[in-house]
This record gives sequence, C-alpha cells and structure tokens, in this order.
Amino acid sequence: MKPTRSRANWLFFRQWLRNPFSIGAVMPSGRELANAMAEASDSDSGRFVVELGGGTGNITQALLDSGLPAERLIVIERDRRLYRVLAARFPEIRILNMDAVQALEVLNEECHGKVGSVVSGLPLLSMPPEFQEQLLAESFKLLGKNGDFIQFTYGPVSPVSQRRLGKLGLRAQKVSRARLNIPPASVWRFVRISEWLQATRDAAQRKQNRAANAA
Ligand SMILES: C[S@@+](CC[C@H](N)C(=O)[O-])C[C@H]1O[C@@H](n2cnc3c(N)ncnc32)[C@H](O)[C@@H]1O
Repeated sequence: MKPTRSRANWLFFRQWLRNPFSIGAVMPSGRELANAMAEASDSDSGRFVVELGGGTGNITQALLDSGLPAERLIVIERDRRLYRVLAARFPEIRILNMDAVQALEVLNEECHGKVGSVVSGLPLLSMPPEFQEQLLAESFKLLGKNGDFIQFTYGPVSPVSQRRLGKLGLRAQKVSRARLNIPPASVWRFVRISEWLQATRDAAQRKQNRAANAA
C-alpha cells in the first residue's frame, strides 16, 4: 500500500531521530529542491539516471515528472524502512536496498558507461573523506562521456573540498539554489575536468567561427 505523504514524512523524521548522521535532514526535500535536482540532471539523453539515497522519493518523483522513463531510473536506499516506502510508492522502478558504494560497484558490472547522471541526496557533509572519495570514484566509473554527479547541500560551499575533487580529476559548479526549501539548499554539479576543458575549448571555437562567418 502506498504511504500517505504525512506518514512518509513522519517515518523519515523517526529514522532521523534514530540515525541523524545517516539520514542527514529532519524532513525530505521540498518540491523546489526536488525539481532543481531533476532539472540539473541528464534525463533526456536516453541514458540511465542513478539516484543515491532516495529517502521517501521526492527527488525520484521529480525525476519521473521531468520526463525520465521509469525503466531508465535506478534508486539506491540503504535504510530498510525508507526502502519499503520507496518500493510501495514506485513499484515500476528498480530500487536497491544497499549501501551506495556497494550498489555502485554492482551497477558498474552491469551498466558501466551507460549512465548520464548520478543524482545524490546523500548527506555527504557528514560522511568521512574516504567514503566521499570512494563514492565519487565509483560514480565516475559508472558515468558515460560528459556524465555528471548532481548533489545538493545545505552548506554555503561545495560539499566536497576542492582539494579532494582535484585529486579525483573533478570540478564542481553551483547550478541553482532552492531558497524556499527547509533548510535552504543549493544544487552542485561535479564533472570531469578534462571534459569541462574540452567543452570550454569547443564553445570558444564555435564563437570564433561565428565571428569569422559574420565578418
Ligand atoms: C538527506 S536524505 C535525502 C532523502 C531524499 N533524497 C530527499 O531528498 O528527500 C539522505 C538519504 O540517504 C540515505 N543514505 C544515507 N547513507 C547512505 C548510504 N551509504 N547508502 C545509501 N543510502 C544512504 C538515507 O537513508 C536517507 O534516506
């Protein structure tokens, strides 16, 4: 049976009381933040989207609402009770009740390079640096060309330090802000530095060509 929104929110709060560092928020993301996460992700290239830390499914719903077909979405949620909420709410989606890093390792066997975005609601700020590194390394192994890792944070800066990102060959950019969320949050995109440099060079070349054609 599908849980009502208030029952799902109540369960989320109870799970937070039990394990605040793992749940990372007192209530699920609001619609503005969920939509901003979906908008930032690659839902129309025909590739898979993998969502980490699905919670009660608000970002999952926004991804589906943005036009992503259910068979292209894979959701990972470690908490057993929240997993059951997700499974009842989205019977058409593949949901893995596993730790994110372990699930990414499994998915790397199956759909390596076929994923356009990894969309993360994990509380990265409360996770140890080694976990952050493993998570990003496994995610970027899974992501195809120009794939990106989308993460929200309640903090003012990137939830992964520039030093750690540099070590992994990644670059972070803030893409939007959900001011009305409780608490307010921002959405970040992590990409491979090599692909970002190539895209920047291509854009400069296109601009030069346009100017030459107009002259
Ligand atoms: C801040 S909540 C976000 C929930 C939902 N995405 C949202 O935005 O409302 C973080 C979620 O990540 C899950 N989580 C935390 N650590 C995890 C891990 N290592 N692997 C998988 N899920 C994890 C928690 O159980 C929780 O549901």
